[in-house]
Amino acid sequence: MSGFVPGEWVLLTSQKGKSWMVRVTDAPFSAHLGTVHLKDVIGREEGEWLETSKGAKLFLYRPSLADFIFKLKRQTQIIYPKDIGAILVYGDIRPGVTVLESGIGSGALALALIRAVGTEGRLISVERRIEFARLASRNITRFFGCSPAWHDLIVGDIETVHLKVQADRVILDLPEPWQAVAPVSAFIKTGGLLVSLSPNVGQVQLTYRELRLNGFANINTFELLKRDWKVDERRARPEDRMVAHTGFITVAKKVFRQNGAEDFPRLENYLEEGEREPFSHAQPSAPDFP
Ligand SMILES: C[S@@+](CC[C@H](N)C(=O)[O-])C[C@H]1O[C@@H](n2cnc3c(N)ncnc32)[C@H](O)[C@@H]1O
Repeated sequence: MSGFVPGEWVLLTSQKGKSWMVRVTDAPFSAHLGTVHLKDVIGREEGEWLETSKGAKLFLYRPSLADFIFKLKRQTQIIYPKDIGAILVYGDIRPGVTVLESGIGSGALALALIRAVGTEGRLISVERRIEFARLASRNITRFFGCSPAWHDLIVGDIETVHLKVQADRVILDLPEPWQAVAPVSAFIKTGGLLVSLSPNVGQVQLTYRELRLNGFANINTFELLKRDWKVDERRARPEDRMVAHTGFITVAKKVFRQNGAEDFPRLENYLEEGEREPFSHAQPSAPDFP
């Protein structure tokens, strides 16, 4: 690899793994470990280090996509690398495909989608709020160094927007994804995949219903738990704390049947003969007090 050049990002990383993402400029950088001069980064290779004024080592890395996402300027909830990885693989996002995404939020998922579809593909992002569209656009330009020509960002509501597109993949990260399923089903090719991420299972249930009513099948929902470990010479065990929940990922395939209300499993199918209601929402009777 070539040495660092002025203007590019460098991830200054301490021996304990704390990191700072800064531009390579003619300026000092100070943290609790001391000061370094960023112009000393120029020409050095990744993996080399600078010694701070306090004698600490700061290793020089180029930020990965995951590093960049953790350091992203954000004003919305974002999708984290753990779930982005699954969305890319289970959503089968690959070079050349056309992806429709809504909403773009701070642009974390969009960065990964733009990179995955590549110059032969296309990402169309639909975002309702102009301030988030601007923020995401800035984050994308910061990451790629330019505005990628294969990305279109439309400010609008995915429930009402008019698009002349037949996407291979649709990705929804919305507070009410079920409301978007019927409108986007017109923009996805038969055989295409829809992926939706929701933090609450109630959102997932409503989305399932709409998916089944709008010609989607092979629906699968899962969540991923990522547990980091502390490993050194004396111990190897899970960290005390973890991010236990981010969201449920639902993947569905668009099939030929349209308006398939009859495909939605009817309540009766779950009932034993003679049973009327599968769940009882009756309040328990008031306790008797002596
Ligand atoms: C959780 S954020 C998306 C985060 C994004 N996936 C990321 O990784 O940074 C949800 C976004 O959906 C947008 N949104 C909500 N309802 C929408 C709608 N009906 N049409 C378009 N965008 C919508 C919100 O404005 C918000 O920016």
